[in-house]
Amino acid sequence: MNMMNACGYFARSAARRELYFSFCKAFVTSAHRSISFAMSSDLFKPHEKLISIEILGRGVFVPENNSLLRCFQFLSLRTISYGDFCWNGECTNCEIWYHDAGETGQDDRPALACRLTVRENMVITKLSGFVELEGINV
Ligand code: FES
Repeated sequence: MNMMNACGYFARSAARRELYFSFCKAFVTSAHRSISFAMSSDLFKPHEKLISIEILGRGVFVPENNSLLRCFQFLSLRTISYGDFCWNGECTNCEIWYHDAGETGQDDRPALACRLTVRENMVITKLSGFVELEGINV
């Protein structure tokens, strides 16, 4: 059964509508991820693994050795790629607040996501209004 036949099969029954949407969403998400990974050699600095960080209370995995803004792009390709970012530390639109593993929210400090290299288990507690991450704050 190919993708189109599968979607038609699920769409014929109202009882299967929920499953249909889940199935199609999974397909689109998978395609999106494939595109992201296909572009990874051009977009991302060399990395051997994904590391865990927390953004606004949500745990995510992002490529090590990359700027935080690049990691945001990994998570939300469309919104960050088309966002209003200079990528070179001038606009401040990528400002975030964070603390490292073992610290608390009282240790939060601001940083520019385009200038900060991601660190395992870092906790991002606040994002600039320009940083829109699909599934996290939009
Ligand atoms: S994207 Fe402009 S300062 Fe980071």
